[in-house]
Amino acid sequence: MFPANPHRLLAWLIAGTLIVGLPLVGTITDRLRTRMQRAEVAEALTGGDAALAPPIFRRYGCVGCHTVPGIPGADGKVGGALSGLREQVYIGGVLNNTPDNLVQWIVSPRRFSPKTAMPATGISEGEARHLAAYLYRD
Ligand code: HEC
Repeated sequence: MFPANPHRLLAWLIAGTLIVGLPLVGTITDRLRTRMQRAEVAEALTGGDAALAPPIFRRYGCVGCHTVPGIPGADGKVGGALSGLREQVYIGGVLNNTPDNLVQWIVSPRRFSPKTAMPATGISEGEARHLAAYLYRD
């Protein structure tokens, strides 16, 4: 079935690699592009800078209660995982999911849901914006 000539074999190998590889490269770049676009949209919506978020998640103990995608060791299980937030309808089951509401929830959850186990952590609104920018990228 395969040609005995080594040059032809090489040509087949290269053709095969391209046929399998090119669509894969396309898929990967598409994914990267959508991720980058999502990141830009998230930052525009929240006015935050997602790159600043990881140490803030740690500083205020969010990671002890929540699993946060992309943050090693952030595997808390007290509250839910903070993933796919941009597709959710409500925040904490009580607030419409808008960028400002997310920021306000992060700053003072009990203002909206008095019995929630999530405490006010002392985080500032500016810092909460960076976290919101990060969370809406996912
Ligand atoms: C002591 C544990 C605890 C800490 C610390 C904590 N949370 Fe929470 N968080 C919760 C719980 C429990 C819920 C679920 C609240 C509810 O539905 O009433 C929650 C809910 C949330 C939600 C809404 C999730 C959803 O799916 O609607 C967000 C967003 C959130 N927390 C972000 C944060 C951030 C950011 C921090 C750090 C500044 C933080 N939390 C710190 C326990 C915590």
